[in-house]
Order: sequence, then C-alpha cells, then structure tokens
Amino acid sequence: MNLTIIGAGFVGLVTAAVFADFKNQVWVVDNDKDKIKKLSSGKIPFYEPGLEKLIVKNFKSDRLKFTTDYSQAIPNAEIIFICVGTPNKDGEIDLGYIKASTKSVAQNLKRPVIVVIKSTVPPGINKELEKWMKKYTQVSFDMASVPEFLSEGRAIENTLRSYRVVIGAEKKSVVEKLLKLHHPISGERLICNSTTAQMIKYAANTFLPTKISFANAIAILCDQFGADVKKVMLGVGMDKRIGPDFLGAGVGYGGSCFPKDVAALIKLAQKVNYNFKILKAVEQTNQEQINYFVQKVIRLCDGSVKDKILVILGLAFKPGTSDMREASSIYIIKALKKKGAKLRVCDPVAIPTAKKIISGVKFFTNPYKALKRAEVLVLVTEWKEYQKLNFKKIKKLMKRPIVVDGRNVYNQKQLEKLGFIYEGIGR
Ligand code: UDX
Repeated sequence: MNLTIIGAGFVGLVTAAVFADFKNQVWVVDNDKDKIKKLSSGKIPFYEPGLEKLIVKNFKSDRLKFTTDYSQAIPNAEIIFICVGTPNKDGEIDLGYIKASTKSVAQNLKRPVIVVIKSTVPPGINKELEKWMKKYTQVSFDMASVPEFLSEGRAIENTLRSYRVVIGAEKKSVVEKLLKLHHPISGERLICNSTTAQMIKYAANTFLPTKISFANAIAILCDQFGADVKKVMLGVGMDKRIGPDFLGAGVGYGGSCFPKDVAALIKLAQKVNYNFKILKAVEQTNQEQINYFVQKVIRLCDGSVKDKILVILGLAFKPGTSDMREASSIYIIKALKKKGAKLRVCDPVAIPTAKKIISGVKFFTNPYKALKRAEVLVLVTEWKEYQKLNFKKIKKLMKRPIVVDGRNVYNQKQLEKLGFIYEGIGR
C-alpha cells in the first residue's frame, strides 16, 4: 500500500520502517529540515536498537522516502498515519502539532484516504479533527485510531511481535483495510470505535505505572518489616490475574509516556468532574520514591554526602535508550548535588543527552574509572554492563565500599561477602 507517516519521531520512524519492510511504499513527512536531511543520509536522531539498519535497508530499496513537503507525500497516499507529538503544556494536552499536521494533510488531499491517529490524544477527538480537516478539503476521508504501545529500546520487536493491535474505526471497510495492513504483525486484534481505542491507550499507559507505584509502596513496607520486595512481587506476580510484569520496585518510572499520560488523564478526568484519586496517588508515590532513595543514600553515608564522591551508574530513564526525559537520574542528581555531593555520572549511551541537561558533575563512560576513590556506587539505570560489573575489582578501587542499588539487580549476599555495604529498595 502507499502509506504516509506524519512525524519523524520515535513512533513515526518505527512505524515507517516496519511498514516499509513489509513492502509497502512509505513516505515520512516532518517539518524539521535538518532531521529529514539526516534521515535521508541514513542517520536517525536517537538511539533505538535495530532501527537505523531497518531504515537504511528500506531507504536503499526505495520503499522509504523522507520529505518536508506535504504536497509530495499526501496525494498518492491510501493511508496516512499521524504520529506527531502531543506534549503536556501546563498539564494540558497540547494539540498544536495534531492540528497543524492534519490541516496540512487536508490541504494536500487529492483522493479519498484513511487518516489514522497514532499519537496519544484525548479520547473522542476524532470527530473534532474530522470537522477541522473538512474546513480545508472537499475530498472525502475516513478517520481511525490505531494506538501505539511500543516501548523504547524494544520498539522493533514490540511492533513486530506486539501483544495486540487495537483498531478503532467506525466503518467496516476501514477496519478491513487496516487489518490487511497489519496482517504481518502478530498479536491479538481488538476492533472498537476510535474513542475506545484512544481510551485503551490511556488506560494501559496509566495502569502500568499504577503497578510500579504499588510495588514501590510495598517496597517501603518491606524495608520496614524486613521482607524482600523482589520475592514478594515474584510471589504476587505468579497469580495470573495479576501477572509478573511492571512490579519492579526501584527509583520510580520515567520516560516520555508514563509521567505525561498519568498527568494528562488526571486533567482529562477533572474536565468531566471526576477526581482520579488513584492516579494522583500513583504520581505522588512516584515523586516521593526519588526522595526516599536519596534519603537512603544519605543515611548510608552516615548522614551527609557533603564533599563525598558518589558515582551514579545510569542516566537514561531505562536501559536500551539514550532518552532522559523525566528520568529519575535527573532528580536524584539534583537532590544529591544540593546536599553537596561530588558526583561522577556514567551511562553507556546517554552522556551526550545528559551534557545538555545536567551540569556540575563529571561525566564518565567507563564505570571503573569513575569508581576510583569513590565512596558510594549508586545504581540508577540497570544497563546490562552495570549488572555484570567486576565487584572484586571495584572493591579495590573504592574508598568506601557502599552500594545503593536503585533497581534491585545485584546479588546482596555476594556483595556482602566481598565486604560491601549493600542496600537495595525493599530488600
Ligand atoms: C511505555 C509503555 O511500556 C509502552 O507500552 C508505551 O507505548 C509507552 O510507554 P517506555 O516509556 O518506553 O514504554 O518504557 P517502559 O519500559 O514501559 O518503562 C517506563 C518506566 O518504568 C522506566 O523508567 C522503567 O525503569 C520503569 N519501570 C518499568 C519500573 O520502575 N519498574 C518496572 O517494573 C517496569
């Protein structure tokens, strides 16, 4: 099929690369000239395993093209995917990019198409968007919503082997066409109206952080009662009604989706006079988890981190990405810096991103170099390379062997045997 993807961000590029690889003809449109130029030379603007390879492969075989010009990419399209950002603006969902892109689409339509909203948008917005687009075109079009559930660092895999494909559309012919397009993708199919599809996305993206905040709250109790939260959550997750995923206690959730979507759904609920108390508590628990962790670090440093060398391992909001949006590391670093700690920070890929947002710290790519004469190792992001560190070597390097494990990944007994003072979260 002839497809056009609007927005060369994370969702747009993954969608484009995967559909092009399924032998569709795909145009990607973005207003950012620089980005389009780079993409046309095979460079992607962020780190995502496997994406660059897939883009280059399909770009070379002419199935994937990039442009800033809507008039080049819209007229022949059969299906247009809107994948632009919907950032939070003072807690409200900013629809500026959605409005601007759908207007440009409408102005360039030459034949009937399906316009699919992939961006996370307020449930029920398709009717408003349809009206908006009709102001700018006489050509007929259908609207649909196919929300995106991919997670950073595993985006290609998530797209190809997804849990489910949710198709929200009002017309049977639209559903059939979208089912056909998604045929090579595995996972269950759920057909519903577009409003329901949009609500599924918000419900999923707020339920997962609810699980995380719940696990973090239980972890605090585990610290007090002497239980091990890892085992507790293992036991809890063995119940199929609950499931084992997203029960990992730690330094809280970050990223470009969970914090934004939790805040947005609280606001959306307010608009219809519903006080979404559960989500407010989820948000608050997540914020407080950072403070709880920082206090733990300070306590382990005999009550003060002033002038002590602390090493933060991991800056990205999770492993496998260079993304630091709403990363817990930012808040932990800020708080420890305020208390006078001398911070050395490490990450395998996020250092260039970090340099733009963090100052007053020393940056390292080699954790061993960073740990020389350090007093505390603080694990914030559980990158594989940080899970497999040589602690015998580290013991000799550090001035004081204290490990604070913000992701509960280290073997406590082994570390204690080597002479480390170890604390995780809720262990
Ligand atoms: C998330 C959703 O998983 C995805 O379906 C949606 O489309 C976008 O938002 P992403 O933000 O890429 O994806 O990251 P994810 O892997 O879900 O992790 C989010 C945050 O939760 C990370 O900071 C991670 O460290 C944290 N987390 C995750 C925990 O603290 N504990 C867990 O058990 C799982």
